[in-house]
Amino acid sequence: MNLDIDLAVIGGTGLYQLANLQDVEPHQPVTRYGALSGPVRVGTLEGRRVAFLARHGEGHSLPPHRVNYRANLSALHAFGARRVLALNTVGGITGRFGPRVLACPDQLIDYTWGRVSTFGEDEGSEVLHVDFGDPYTPSLRREVLEAAGSAGVELVDGGCYGATQGPRLETRAEIARMRRDGCDLVGMTGMPEAGLARELGLDYACLAIVANWAAGAGPQVDEVITFQDVLDNVAAASAGIPPLLRAL
Ligand code: HPA
Repeated sequence: MNLDIDLAVIGGTGLYQLANLQDVEPHQPVTRYGALSGPVRVGTLEGRRVAFLARHGEGHSLPPHRVNYRANLSALHAFGARRVLALNTVGGITGRFGPRVLACPDQLIDYTWGRVSTFGEDEGSEVLHVDFGDPYTPSLRREVLEAAGSAGVELVDGGCYGATQGPRLETRAEIARMRRDGCDLVGMTGMPEAGLARELGLDYACLAIVANWAAGAGPQVDEVITFQDVLDNVAAASAGIPPLLRAL
């Protein structure tokens, strides 16, 4: 069912709804890949059709490795979405990416395992070798950065997102290795979502919300990361998201 969606937003940890979305209707199809994380809420924002889906479910019941990424993306695609903005809560590894920073990364490294990572999984389906040199769509990244600029929202341009398996956080040695690998940010949901979006030909960009310093990355090396810190920092940093989305 094509709902002519101009922009689809997938919300991450601490982001379970979209402010200012009007005339909202929920849609919860079951796809050939199974059930979505929750309803796709389709409404109007600044005169445009916008869809919102909470990646972990509206009650945060799905851990990152159990999100049905294929169902979520195939439903957004079927609804006619061509642009997907993924909101991802992350830990910061390098200096520019401290807590409460918003960033629009331009690279990623996939450390996840055991997740269904392609639409080419089914018996007899086509083997898909999509180009993924730029994992985030450059034109959509530009639009996101311009929207932030015009809305007066500070947004770091670039950075490498390392996608880990979770649901536990990382060890300090794992983060030290990720830093050596070139990662600036660490999160658990960036993949396979970005790769599946590319397989579907969707424009896809990530708006990363830094919730904490990753293990050992902050000024206090043995700092313990609590879920409450994560939620508090996401809530504070999220103030910039509604104006950015309106501009987008
Ligand atoms: N590691 C992985 N994922 C995360 C983190 C982290 O430190 N913070 C928020 N999501």
